[in-house]
Amino acid sequence: MRILVLNGPNLGTLGRRQPEVYGATTLAEIVEAVRARALEHGAVIDHLQSNHEGALIDRLEQLDYDAVIINPGALTHTSYALHDALVACERPAVEVHLSDITAREPWRRVSLIEPVVVGRVIGHGWQGYLEAVDLLLGPAGG
Ligand code: DQA
Repeated sequence: MRILVLNGPNLGTLGRRQPEVYGATTLAEIVEAVRARALEHGAVIDHLQSNHEGALIDRLEQLDYDAVIINPGALTHTSYALHDALVACERPAVEVHLSDITAREPWRRVSLIEPVVVGRVIGHGWQGYLEAVDLLLGPAGG
C-alpha cells in the first residue's frame, strides 16, 4: 500500500507559521511521524508539499499510489480543480486540517473537497495526520 501525502500552500513553514494556530511541529517532523505510522501498517508514503495548485494536481495525475492524505491549506476553500483531480484519481482520500476550520472565519468552514473524501480529521493538530493513516488502513497493528 502506497499513500500519497499532499500538503498545500503555506504548510511548508509549519513550526514557525502561527504556532498558536498550527502548532510548533515542522512539516518534516510530521512527515517522518506519518512515515513511521504507515510502516507500522506495512505501508509506505510519498510526500509533496507545494504552494502551487497545479503541482498538486500534476502529482495526483501520476496515479502511482493507492490512497491519499491531503491538507490543501487555503486551496480547501477555493479549488474546484483539486476537487476534480481527487475525483479523477479514483483513490480514497482523507482530508486533514491542523486547526479547527469549523470554528474560525466563515470562509474556512467551506471545504470544496469534503464531498469527495472518504474521511476528515479536523482540528487535531499534527496528530490528525496519524489519525488519517489509521482511517485509511485500520488501527495500527490490526
Ligand atoms: C489549514 C486550514 C486552512 O484554512 C488554512 O488556509 C491552512 C491550513 C489547516 O491545516 O488548519 O493553510 O488547512
